[in-house]
Amino acid sequence: MRHPEDNLEDSNPSRARGLRELAPLPRRTVLQASVGAAMMSLFGAAASGCAGTGPARGARMRPGFAAIGVDRADRLVVPPGYTATPFAAWGEPIGVAGAPMPPWRHDASASAADQALQVGMHHDGLHYFPLDGSRRGLLVMNHEYVDDGLLFPDGLATWTAEKVRKSQAAHGISVIEIAQDNQGQWQMVRPSRYARRITAATHCAVGGPAAGHRLMQTAGDPSGRLVAGTLNNCAAGQTPWGTYLSGEENFRFYFSGGDQPDAHQRRWGMVRTAFFGWPAFDERFDATKHPNEFNRFGWVVELDPADPASTPVKRTALGRAAHEGAWVAVTQDGRAVVYSGEDARNEYIYKFVSRDRIRPAGHGLTAAQANRELLDHGTLYVARFDADGTGHWLPLVQGQGPLTAANGFADQGEVVIKARQASDALGVTPMDRPEWLAIDPLRGTVFCTLTNHAERGRPGQPPTDAANPRQGNTHGHIIRWDEGEAGRGDFDATRFRWSHLVLAGDPVQARPEARGTIQGDLFACPDGLAFGPGGLLWIQTDMHASQMGLGEFANLGNNQMLACDLTTGEIRRFLTGPRHCEITGAAWTPDGRTMFINVQHPGETPSDRSDPAQPARFSNWPDYQPGGRPRSATVVIRKNDGGVIGT
Ligand code: FEO
Ligand code: CA
Ligand code: CA
Repeated sequence: MRHPEDNLEDSNPSRARGLRELAPLPRRTVLQASVGAAMMSLFGAAASGCAGTGPARGARMRPGFAAIGVDRADRLVVPPGYTATPFAAWGEPIGVAGAPMPPWRHDASASAADQALQVGMHHDGLHYFPLDGSRRGLLVMNHEYVDDGLLFPDGLATWTAEKVRKSQAAHGISVIEIAQDNQGQWQMVRPSRYARRITAATHCAVGGPAAGHRLMQTAGDPSGRLVAGTLNNCAAGQTPWGTYLSGEENFRFYFSGGDQPDAHQRRWGMVRTAFFGWPAFDERFDATKHPNEFNRFGWVVELDPADPASTPVKRTALGRAAHEGAWVAVTQDGRAVVYSGEDARNEYIYKFVSRDRIRPAGHGLTAAQANRELLDHGTLYVARFDADGTGHWLPLVQGQGPLTAANGFADQGEVVIKARQASDALGVTPMDRPEWLAIDPLRGTVFCTLTNHAERGRPGQPPTDAANPRQGNTHGHIIRWDEGEAGRGDFDATRFRWSHLVLAGDPVQARPEARGTIQGDLFACPDGLAFGPGGLLWIQTDMHASQMGLGEFANLGNNQMLACDLTTGEIRRFLTGPRHCEITGAAWTPDGRTMFINVQHPGETPSDRSDPAQPARFSNWPDYQPGGRPRSATVVIRKNDGGVIGT
């Protein structure tokens, strides 16, 4: 998402590090087989369909579908032999047991109370949690933000308390139960005892070192342990113990900071006036009156979808950030390692290593319940990428190095709340907007999309460096690393070896920095990234509405999804989305025969806000109702012969 007064976050004044030379590519290394085996066995043991649990665990699957071309039409295209079916669109009732099922209304006249019982807006990360293998399960998804021009009949005109409540209800997370019918079609199960909306008003507990901290205490919550809501939930992770991790990304847009934000607020990109009209009717978003409320967002939230009565928990030990999402690996001895990036210009990549081992279910507890506090204790690290192709994970631990009380870090709670300032103090590598991470289930290599940084290397910005090698990086790139000094270590290693998988671009462009290194089908602005069945790596893109089809993006069509064959390096286009949407979120059933993805904000305008008085919208997917509103929706993708997705 963007913002009219301050489009993309660029709040890091430290401009740390400036290595201009390109690193030699390190020799590719293979993790010890036991690492991958340990990870797979734990994933396999969990009652969940983590990426990579499909067929062909030993040998990497090769893509077998026919590549499709770019597309600029208002439609969704998949290769021959595949069928894509939209469902669970914004505004559909989710079927909360014992509650009404308010129907979708194309005029957006649903009330706030209705919206709280319906699928939210702007679908993003999602995961599938099996209830009955690959035939019935829970689909859990994020709703990143809203388009106020579509959410209300009169759009942005005149905010009211009711509008704020509806906007808050359209944010957050949806838990829906889904099942295949007798024809093999996926349907929402309604009502369902699991169906649940988490919104920007749902109470969330706080776990980890910031729980109860003085910087987390507010007039509404003197305990500092209970936050009303989660918001700007972007990407999602799935844990081996059956829970869902949701990243609170651009939380700064919800707060009004006034004319004189302090240094801490400035470092976190506080804007003068909130992008959404909430502060006038929900005073906690007025940071001039309640400055600590701002500190209560920017966390990874953990949810147990199998327990509809469970309270979501903000896991502060993982650090505060404009979290894109959170992704879990497992060490050989069974501890959890959570990788996370911060999607903002010149921000950082983090990993958290749990102190304790993952516990199995037993003694009357589910795995989720047995690991209730696993992510509250451990060590947080931040990444430094060196020019020689190696890297360091530097601990963000109070009392170590510069992270002392004298430097403004009185305790570990203050370190995690001020994770950006702590990382600045360690002199780590400012990145080109880290988005999704993905962990290769076969080799353990970690991949991260760096979506773009058009200002990299410009005056007042960090110079290029080995890891972020292009000035004016409009197209983005994908970086990868193997843990350990020689690239053969476990996930808790404090050294790593890195290289680039690909620099995105278009070889016909005049500007060398826009040409890229793609072998195969062209794309730009990689965002979503996930391993699917058989170890196939999937890439999703998020070019902005203000760029698509223009200038250096002229040949790249609408946003899309591609598969990367890591055996050859070939990238092949699998899906193109409707006009001005983003393609995001990827989940599979355990058998690998159904893939779920999300189409976010079809028809988004260059300002991120539609004008309800403007009859000609950029899109009215998926309903194609004349004059109707475009809707974010999940898309179910099946192979017509029932085969594994990607073959
Ligand atoms: Fe919500 Fe960085 O994408
Ligand atoms: Ca994203
Ligand atoms: Ca987007």
